[in-house]
Amino acid sequence: MSEQGGGDWVALREDDGRAYLLRRSPGEVKVKGLGRFDAEQLLEGYSIGDRIRVGQKSLTIVDPALPEARRNMARRAQVIGAKDAGFLISWMGIGVGSRVLEGGHGSAGLAMHLANVLGSEGTLISVDSRPDLAEVGQANMERLAEVLPKFPDWHLIDGDMTEIGQVVSSVCGSLDAAIIDIAEPWHVIPSIVPFLRAGGRLACYCPTTSQLEKSWESAQEQGLVIEWAGEMIERRWVKASKGGVRPGNQPMGHTAFLLISAKIAPYEEE
Ligand SMILES: C[S@@+](CC[C@H](N)C(=O)[O-])C[C@H]1O[C@@H](n2cnc3c(N)ncnc32)[C@H](O)[C@@H]1O
Repeated sequence: MSEQGGGDWVALREDDGRAYLLRRSPGEVKVKGLGRFDAEQLLEGYSIGDRIRVGQKSLTIVDPALPEARRNMARRAQVIGAKDAGFLISWMGIGVGSRVLEGGHGSAGLAMHLANVLGSEGTLISVDSRPDLAEVGQANMERLAEVLPKFPDWHLIDGDMTEIGQVVSSVCGSLDAAIIDIAEPWHVIPSIVPFLRAGGRLACYCPTTSQLEKSWESAQEQGLVIEWAGEMIERRWVKASKGGVRPGNQPMGHTAFLLISAKIAPYEEE
């Protein structure tokens, strides 16, 4: 979608949940999937909650929120979705005012979920060593900041997860939570643990079993306790044509194993 300046964001929602974001501002724009038009002229006389026709499509005008922003996000690297992000956020106790580190940032799949719950009192530090991938996430986050009513104090760092000490110290002192989504989490765990507060949690997103095992061992070597390890399995149901509801035909796909650990006080030497 080409970006527009000024004006409120609205989402045009298809009945099945697909959505298109656009701004009520003058000038022709091209919205992927909808075509070219002047959004201000198109929306003139329409309010939130109205049904509008654009070309062949019949759409509901809604206030955009996280789901609509995600439907429209640009993607390059593999993104963390609602199934895993929601579980991590709740299990790790991340909410309004939390101080969170996440990396790699990639297309901001996880960062968008985090920004949605942190409120304006929260702090989010996102790290990525590949600016060409992080710029996709940055664009997604900048648009989300205009869509959400509250957005955290967000810092995007071009660097390696092993070098976050200085940034964390200067931005927020210590962390309530850290979520690692890179190929080799076990290499960066030792650099992050010193900045976790006591009771703070560190999670690793591990697509393969060997990543899970190495991350598990590294977390324990750093004195963390493992609170939860496993995978979230999602099975969707459908309405059957002859009545009733039943599991759908789509396969249950794998995303990643999750490892959640917590920082505890060190044991005193005997
Ligand atoms: C799978 S993507 C992250 C996706 C992201 N969490 C999301 O939900 O959209 C992995 C990212 O980690 C970055 N990365 C890999 N190793 C890194 C490191 N040591 N420090 C910082 N970023 C790293 C890569 O450049 C890549 O963008």
